[in-house]
Amino acid sequence: MKAEPCTYTIFGATGNLSRTKLMPALYRLDAANRLPKDTRILAIGRRPWDQQTWLAEARQMIEDKAPGEFDETVFQRFSARLYYHQGDITQPQCYTELADTISQKDDFPKNIAFYLSISPSDFGTVMEMLSNANLFNEEYGWRRVIIEKPFGYDLDSAQALQTRINRYLSEEQIYRIDHYLGKGMVRNVLVFRFANVMLEPLWNRNYIDHVQITHSEDIGIGSRAAYYDKAGAMRDMLQSHLLQLLTLVAMEPPVSMEAESLRDEKVKVLKSIRPIPREAVHGHAFRAQYANGRVGGEQVNGYVQEEDVPANSITETYAAMKLYIDNWRWRGVPFYLRTGKRMSKGQSVISICFRHPPLQFFRGTEVQCMNPNWVLLGIQPEEFIRIEMTVKEPGLEMRTRSTSLDASFRLDNEKPIDAYEDLLLDVLKGDRSLFLRFDEVEYAWRIVDPILQTWAIERDYIVTYPAGSWGPEDSRRLFDKESQSWRSSLIPECK
Ligand code: BG6
Repeated sequence: MKAEPCTYTIFGATGNLSRTKLMPALYRLDAANRLPKDTRILAIGRRPWDQQTWLAEARQMIEDKAPGEFDETVFQRFSARLYYHQGDITQPQCYTELADTISQKDDFPKNIAFYLSISPSDFGTVMEMLSNANLFNEEYGWRRVIIEKPFGYDLDSAQALQTRINRYLSEEQIYRIDHYLGKGMVRNVLVFRFANVMLEPLWNRNYIDHVQITHSEDIGIGSRAAYYDKAGAMRDMLQSHLLQLLTLVAMEPPVSMEAESLRDEKVKVLKSIRPIPREAVHGHAFRAQYANGRVGGEQVNGYVQEEDVPANSITETYAAMKLYIDNWRWRGVPFYLRTGKRMSKGQSVISICFRHPPLQFFRGTEVQCMNPNWVLLGIQPEEFIRIEMTVKEPGLEMRTRSTSLDASFRLDNEKPIDAYEDLLLDVLKGDRSLFLRFDEVEYAWRIVDPILQTWAIERDYIVTYPAGSWGPEDSRRLFDKESQSWRSSLIPECK
């Protein structure tokens, strides 16, 4: 698929996402000569800025993100693509003026991508106004709309939003972004699984004991209380990013890498997840909130002391969940998912634990260390694939130790690519394989809805964990067996 020039129109261009991700990603694409020549970037913001002020802001955004990478020549080329449109996105005038600007200047390519980096509560209104101003008319070029998560607040609101969007757009025009799918290592999960024949025979309930997917962050919620306190960790990370990771680990080989084939297989996984009845929620899900503690040697506040968080908030900053996939491949294998803010370390890892081998062969020997095999897929900050095995220790005695076969995903001289670079380019190519189809979002909500509903009623208490820890001890109760426990270390530990 070839990237086509377009007018990249960014709603919320002065906001945090644009500042830290979108503008730096577009700049890096330009630096790598990946942006089609005539592409223009039209920023929409409420502030009364002129072109010069916008260019100075854009420069700052890029310099802040990667100070060492800034190149004046590239920025001169990039800045020639930038425009600023001032307007209030809740007023029709903003859209009529936008339509005039785009149609009057030959400079703007006729294909238009609208990136909605705005509050989800504005999605519906903005689309309605774009449609009223005839900006979705595809007579002279395509129209694509990129929607940031969260898509809805629960199943009902997601369905209502979808019904509203359907009035203005077809599914082919909608790009629901989950930036996890753009991460290099996440895409590598598919290559690892489907390009290596030795794994396939083992990748099922006969050999795998359980799967863990962990995303931990050492940072707190910063200045995002307005959003986060209403969302919580379950909506913010589990319903979206971690369930997507689960689908990639668990899905059947798709017919091709083409968007619909991939998405069909992901949906089949989500549909096969055993529903959690309301009365079983506590056996399947755990929530907690960070209290004050120490992170990286520094004393930090608890969640309820953070700026703009109500003192009686019981929003979860840690959520863990156990799921079963009731299909032939996975029946009986628990998938444990967890995420938390202000944890000991920031890392995202998929850890696959194989069954214990039979041990009678070693009876009567000094062998003590006999760990199961693990496959670790490190997503960030380190990108790696690691297979842990047991080997004999050198020496006269029959002793064993764990070792690992390591495959780094990137070599030292290979630069990491931010997920947004990949995804923003895919929009220009019309490649939707790494964007979510509505049924994926819908089934993901179906899975977590019973948990959210139960938590919404139980409002008087939430367990806490000290900032800087690996989360609450009590979350252990999710495990099916005594031998299972959260895997946080990336090096093998003899148990
Ligand atoms: C976002 C969440 O979608 O993902 C944030 O809203 C979270 O709360 C972030 O911090 C994590 O993304 P990444 O790419 O930093 O792992």
